Amino acid sequence: MSTVQDSSRLCRQAHINGRWMDAFTGQTFAVTNPADNSVLAEVADCGHQEGLAAIAAAHRAFQTWRRTTALERARLLHRWHALILEHGEALAQLITAEGGKPITEARGEVAYGASFISWFAEEARRINGQVLSSPSAQRRLVVELAPVGVVAAITPWNFPLAMITRKCAPALAAGCTLVIKPAEATPLTALTLAELAMQAGFPDGVINVVPTANPSVVGETLAAHPQVRKLSFTGSTAVGKLLMRQAADTVKRLSLELGGNAPFIVFDDADLDRAVAGAVASKFRNSGQTCVCTNRFLVQRGIYNTFLDALTKAVSALRVGPGQEETTQQGPLISASGLKKVQEQVADAQDKGARILCGGQSHPLGGTFFTPTVAADITPEMRVWREETFGPLAAVAPFKDEAEAISLANDTPSGLAAYVYSRDLSRCWRVAEGLDYGMVGINEGLIATAEAPFGGVKESGLGREGGHEGILEFLEPKYLCMGM
Ligand code: SIN
Repeated sequence: MSTVQDSSRLCRQAHINGRWMDAFTGQTFAVTNPADNSVLAEVADCGHQEGLAAIAAAHRAFQTWRRTTALERARLLHRWHALILEHGEALAQLITAEGGKPITEARGEVAYGASFISWFAEEARRINGQVLSSPSAQRRLVVELAPVGVVAAITPWNFPLAMITRKCAPALAAGCTLVIKPAEATPLTALTLAELAMQAGFPDGVINVVPTANPSVVGETLAAHPQVRKLSFTGSTAVGKLLMRQAADTVKRLSLELGGNAPFIVFDDADLDRAVAGAVASKFRNSGQTCVCTNRFLVQRGIYNTFLDALTKAVSALRVGPGQEETTQQGPLISASGLKKVQEQVADAQDKGARILCGGQSHPLGGTFFTPTVAADITPEMRVWREETFGPLAAVAPFKDEAEAISLANDTPSGLAAYVYSRDLSRCWRVAEGLDYGMVGINEGLIATAEAPFGGVKESGLGREGGHEGILEFLEPKYLCMGM
């Protein structure tokens, strides 16, 4: 696993019950590099039957894994963490190759993803129940925290490593076993993580990975199966709603980390340099392809033109190129459909009166490269106001006062992340409290960390990942009442 070019050593098969195996049909699908469309590997194309086999393996393994001590689980997690860091450069290269992410960001993702494993290894040791004060001298009341059971983790392509560790580390720490269905664009990172977990010593069947080019088939198998007791999904709101419906008949526990439409509010009194740096970080991370990326910049009228000038200068300076090049700041978009959406949003905004201050078209590199863009004077009638862009388009609108900023920011069914920039801390506090969002960055554009609960309200999802809350998602309180 030294470099991704060493393709003979890439993990390409499904990982079920501790074994590497082909799809039962022998079918494979191609994983490509979005920077140049070259084929990186042919990967086992799993379906319903492989999904069932993985669930059965996870269910068997759960019977013993649930009885391990927290200390044993923590030790294995620490070993997995160490192996990921040891192979960090190879993993970063793999993330860049299959996802297009600039290599410096991919290295950051390895460290970020690994941090969830060490955090939850530590949290495993603190899964404490409660002894309740009993209203009766003849009874003793105890609440234990029991692992929920087999967990299905359906993970996205934009963080092929970190979104797996953010789900799997707390599940494993809690005593659950797993079936992972990685995104079809980025299964290689997931399979490599499984290989490292095997090397760390996780027992057979505790971690299973079923790659597939047919996410709806395997997704439904996992969502509908009675032995899967918890489904954790990161992806679009539309797919999240579908999985929710499919999981309803078996009354599964759900964690859903869905789409956002993040507002980034800049008041007249903001520190301009800081606001622009935060704007670029929050909007252009992973070429605009994260759920917490800013979707709408709302800027107070007094600073509107100055902010636009400074933002346009910073965005025009971003270096676009293949993720493998050390100097690249903006890589390709993941797919032709991702590119089309950005193109359509730009055209729609222009038609409805937006001004394009830089970019606005595909990049000369071709393929799915898009030139980082700033669009001014956007309005609620435009698609970019309503739809998550998932691309390098900074859409900016003016506002008059605090009340209008809050009202515009909340004008969406989404509620994942929001950002506020002002030097007036009382105002920051008031606005943050007025925003219907699960997370608010105050004078800060990058907010995610293993220590804090990540998640949204409204149609942005259910549950939290990371923080102390992250492990509770995989634990069921079990009340024991003992008569004396
Ligand atoms: C996401 O885009 O779903 C995750 C972003 C993050 O962890 O910061």
